[in-house]
Amino acid sequence: MPERAEILHLLCDEPAGSLRQEAEKITLAQKGSHVFVRGLLEFSNRCKRNCLYCGLRAQNSTIRRYLLPQEAIIASSEMAVAAGADTVVLQAGEGCFDAGWLADIVREITSRLGVPVTLSVGECARGDYELWRKAGANRYLLRHETSDAALYAKLHPGYSLENRLKCLRVLSSLGYEVGSGFMVGLPGQSLESIADDILLCRKLNVDMAGIGPFIPQGGTPLAAGQGGSADLALRAVAALRIAHPRVNQPATTALASLDPARGQAEGLRWGANVLMASFTPPDAAKDYRIYDNKCRVNMQDAARAIEEAGRTHILKNI
Ligand code: 5AD
Ligand code: SF4
Repeated sequence: MPERAEILHLLCDEPAGSLRQEAEKITLAQKGSHVFVRGLLEFSNRCKRNCLYCGLRAQNSTIRRYLLPQEAIIASSEMAVAAGADTVVLQAGEGCFDAGWLADIVREITSRLGVPVTLSVGECARGDYELWRKAGANRYLLRHETSDAALYAKLHPGYSLENRLKCLRVLSSLGYEVGSGFMVGLPGQSLESIADDILLCRKLNVDMAGIGPFIPQGGTPLAAGQGGSADLALRAVAALRIAHPRVNQPATTALASLDPARGQAEGLRWGANVLMASFTPPDAAKDYRIYDNKCRVNMQDAARAIEEAGRTHILKNI
């Protein structure tokens, strides 16, 4: 398995052609040609945190906040499953809904629709994670964002990388399949720390990892900064595939947002094997503004990207 120096070499020096081919070869050997398509439901844009990079931060008073009602969440989940999504991903900002309310939704989706439920609702109390696990949720996405503890503290006022990692360990111990991941091109992030991000995903033995370029967002403290490059994000996707071959990796929405025509197909060609298609009702989705020009990837987009990358899917009604 590659160590830090080799990962740095993959990120910086390896010719793009051979890096991409190696990552694609490992992806096909480990995962086959099939691309999993998840149904993403962004059920609330309320958030108590103030991550410096994110448009949903609590202090951003310029966006309209929403929390979808239970019936709307369940109806959208049904649509996602009918269209061929293999899991429903329920995503929201942190700490602005009732844990029991979400447990009821999880119970309803797992019992009625028969698909796994993935949660992505941030750092929560162990008791809440337990409650949702008992209700039937069995996957959880919580990106570590950056493995550089000092940078993490700067970007997340009042929070620590240590607590983030503790949450990931608790989730694993409760029997969740766990997803982490990170951004590429954050202000103050070094290439060495991106190599460490990859090593951390391997050390945590994560089941899933989402890697996306940082995209500056208006109305946040990092609005004027430079964003991350799609090229470096793709190199990181490939390097993670080589370092941790069994991981499920999405071609992220951030990649699609930088290059709407080809971003996701490129992600698949560089080592990704998962896509997330949004089933968030459109008038809510327009307020889920994590960053500017966030793409809304639908099932048609997903199918097109998969076909363009020469891979296979089981999507219906498209
Ligand atoms: N650019 C790119 N990705 C972002 N995220 C949040 N803000 C941004 C941004 N400005 C990512 C974080 C978070 C995920 C839901 O979106 O990694 O975990
Ligand atoms: Fe909230 Fe997540 Fe945005 Fe941070 S990244 S402000 S936790 S929605």
